[in-house]
Amino acid sequence: MAGSPGSDGDRSAAKAALFRQAAEHGATYVLTERDGPVVPGGSVASDATTAVSERLAAFDLDHPRQPEAVIDALAELGRTHAVRSTGGRYFGFVTGGTDETALAASVLASAWDQNIALPVMSPLAAAVDEVCAEWLLDLLRLPATATASFCAGASVANLSAVITARDALLADVGWDTAARGLAGGPPLTAVVSAEIHVSALKALRLAGIGTDSIVAAPVDRCGRIDVERLPPINGPTLLVTQAGNVNTGHCDPVGDIVDQAAAAGEPVWVHVDGAFGLWAAASPQRRHLVAGFERADSWATDCHKWLNVPYDCGLVAVGEGSRLRATMATDAAYLGGSEGDRSLMHLGLQMSQAARAVPVWATLAALGRSGVADLVDRCCDLATRFATRLEDADATILAPVVLNQALVAFGSDDETEAVLDTVARSGRAWMGGTTWQGRRAMRISVSDAATGEADVDEAAAAVLDAWAQVGGRA
Ligand SMILES: Cc1ncc(COP(=O)(O)O)c(C=O)c1O
Repeated sequence: MAGSPGSDGDRSAAKAALFRQAAEHGATYVLTERDGPVVPGGSVASDATTAVSERLAAFDLDHPRQPEAVIDALAELGRTHAVRSTGGRYFGFVTGGTDETALAASVLASAWDQNIALPVMSPLAAAVDEVCAEWLLDLLRLPATATASFCAGASVANLSAVITARDALLADVGWDTAARGLAGGPPLTAVVSAEIHVSALKALRLAGIGTDSIVAAPVDRCGRIDVERLPPINGPTLLVTQAGNVNTGHCDPVGDIVDQAAAAGEPVWVHVDGAFGLWAAASPQRRHLVAGFERADSWATDCHKWLNVPYDCGLVAVGEGSRLRATMATDAAYLGGSEGDRSLMHLGLQMSQAARAVPVWATLAALGRSGVADLVDRCCDLATRFATRLEDADATILAPVVLNQALVAFGSDDETEAVLDTVARSGRAWMGGTTWQGRRAMRISVSDAATGEADVDEAAAAVLDAWAQVGGRA
């Protein structure tokens, strides 16, 4: 009977109330995400983890709690310990922030809880997925005939592309990996940027292409493949390039590499790891950086980085979609046919998966082409502003800023380390460190739509104050 304790109506009302409670907490978080230290607990991640673990110890499997109490406890943990990576002054890794439309849409998508392995499981999500994949190919200026498929992130996109390339290259020389596996097959070489991202290296390893079969292509001072020194191509070759070096943001000359590879007269597949750098294509001002990239064979990128869609969401695109399908498609009687549709389970590694396209579609629908271009340009301009502030105070900019990344050193390696640590402890901003061509450096990545000029000026001031504090020149 409706309204009686434990009835369906009661349960639905309780579920809705809990959902509103969580949404209310989420809204409060969004309103206060700029408050407090950027990384609670300063620079020592293990201290923060211990503090959270201590609070979690109040819960155990033998004493279930009321859902409302669980959600309140989680909200409190987020309030005190979530890294403010969406508040405008987090410049670590290439993390991206959270676009408000994407956030709201992901809340809705969570409520729907659609599984998009097959269109029949969610015709709604399948339609959004198809439109959204087309929009992304358009924005990234990739061939409209390519097949794009959502996945967990650029690491998975790299892996998907690399195993597709492996199967395609071996098929081109008469070897069917599906039937024969890899043992005893023709040799396959990977020519990769000496600055290849670790996720692409991992993809090669997982694809059975070991380091003995990998040749590094020399790079210039900015980390771009030097096409004049591209290693010779002999036999089936997978060329792994990148749009957006993880340290400098510079992009390989992929158009020239494609031309040179074609001239070798061997079966060659050119892959682009464009986790964030491929987004330069969305900006009329910056797309010259990725000119010719559309002539590659496959591309990996992320929506959770520069597009500011909540984690996790990546995209793999393959020029000849039938190649991706040949590697990924699988079937069983209970699943129905695998031909002729965009079933994501036949275009990627996962079977069950979230409708990742929903928040992406919402963001793109709200920002439009000009909004995405503006997001890219704003981040690039802010990275330049940041570098200029530091260079004006005598810090060393290790590579010209062309995209959203700035790479900076402060005197000696020890000094740079001390600046990084002092800034993190100040809570005023957060950046990570790296080693670039033998020198310790601060990596500054501007990829959060919430970042504005005032944030950059405050963060630059925090860095210069830290440099002065550790005895440097600022
Ligand atoms: C160039 C590049 N490729 C791949 C990745 C891996 O992306 P994800 O963390 O989304 O798997 C990153 C991450 O920073 C990256 O910068």
